[in-house]
Amino acid sequence: MYRTVSLAISLVAVAFAQHSALPQCSPSFNGTIGNGTAGSEQQISSTTLRIINATDADQGVAVDADHFYSIDNFSITKHRKATGQPILQWYGGEDGAIIHLDGGVVINGTLYAPHSNYPGLPISSSIEMWDVSTMTHVGSHPFGIYRGSLTWVDQNPVTGVWYGAFANYDRIQTGQTVPYGLTMNTQFVEFTGPPNWEVVRSWIFPEELYATFSPMSNSGGSFGPDGWLYITGHDASAAYVLKIPGAGSVLIWVATIDLPDIAGQGIAWDRSGGKGKATLYGISRASRQVVEMRVSLQTCSWMEHVTVGTILGPGEFVDTSQD
Ligand SMILES: *[C@@H]1O[C@H](CO)[C@@H](O)[C@H](O)[C@H]1NC(C)=O
Ligand SMILES: *[C@@H]1O[C@H](CO)[C@@H](O)[C@H](O)[C@H]1NC(C)=O
Ligand SMILES: *[C@@H]1O[C@H](CO)[C@@H](O)[C@H](O)[C@H]1NC(C)=O
Ligand SMILES: *[C@@H]1O[C@H](CO)[C@@H](O)[C@H](O)[C@H]1NC(C)=O
Ligand SMILES: *[C@@H]1O[C@H](CO)[C@@H](O)[C@H](O)[C@H]1NC(C)=O
Repeated sequence: MYRTVSLAISLVAVAFAQHSALPQCSPSFNGTIGNGTAGSEQQISSTTLRIINATDADQGVAVDADHFYSIDNFSITKHRKATGQPILQWYGGEDGAIIHLDGGVVINGTLYAPHSNYPGLPISSSIEMWDVSTMTHVGSHPFGIYRGSLTWVDQNPVTGVWYGAFANYDRIQTGQTVPYGLTMNTQFVEFTGPPNWEVVRSWIFPEELYATFSPMSNSGGSFGPDGWLYITGHDASAAYVLKIPGAGSVLIWVATIDLPDIAGQGIAWDRSGGKGKATLYGISRASRQVVEMRVSLQTCSWMEHVTVGTILGPGEFVDTSQD
């Protein structure tokens, strides 16, 4: 049993290591890494490649080699990627079990979609799964009352590790008297992935960043082919590049990407063509459109080699009693 598990884990590690071509960032790399203060992070521009009408482009978008999927609260349309033509729709209905999908990611033929009962109480989430060849709903992993509203999930293409975010909101929802969880309680989590989806580590967002999301929250998230984390808020025409810290539990805000044709919501990197061809998909819910964009990637790897603190010898010690 244990042998099988460790063999499976090392096979996964080998499979993902092959994709890891980026050099590690140097230990002193913080030039493009801001300190979390608004304005200290790197500013990156983007190019819009195309804008496609898609009636389900209300919550998010997912993409694989030949198709993209526009996602609404309880409907998903599969489109041919080359032409944008809609070819299949899954529809759950107003009174169905699916209440509020928030986006999705396609991994190996399965669409994994974050789902919640937003804006209902108590806050409750699940991951819902579809076989994208037929658009049949094939699975569900319920979390019950847990950390917030699940808004996105993705697998880091470089490491194979799964992540996601449970969002909370400063907004007081209609008919309620207190904020919907408070935006500052939004959490980025590392999952064991399918089938158990256990949370093994979690982080919060830097105050400067969650303050820009308020009264809403982190809406979309997708790992670039560079292995870096790209997330969105609810409304801003931007994505934010984040890094896991070497210590503590607050993410580091590295860069802000200007994405003028989307307004927050779900995003998905098209990683199917490799690093050179990668594009970012997003939506404009106001115009019900899917937008494909080109964004330059980070040039060194995201997590390793994080220096925390300095080692001091005799004569150099900092006298903290004088603070
Ligand atoms: C990293 O940040 C520190 C503190 O702001 C600065 O002194 C140092 O020069 C920076 N290093 C690089 C490589 O930019
Ligand atoms: C963070 O960066 C900003 C902009 O470069 C700078 O003004 C501020 O002093 C920095 N804060 C810290 C704690 O290093
Ligand atoms: C997209 O939708 C807009 C607004 O409904 C419409 O004016 C436009 O003709 C549509 N474009 C295409 C290519 O269908
Ligand atoms: C989707 O759900 C949100 C939250 O309940 C709601 O504000 C929005 O109007 C819904 N959109 C559609 C098209 O039903
Ligand atoms: C992808 O899915 C197929 C069919 O379910 C399965 O046979 C294969 O092992 C999966 N590959 C990976 C890398 O998960």
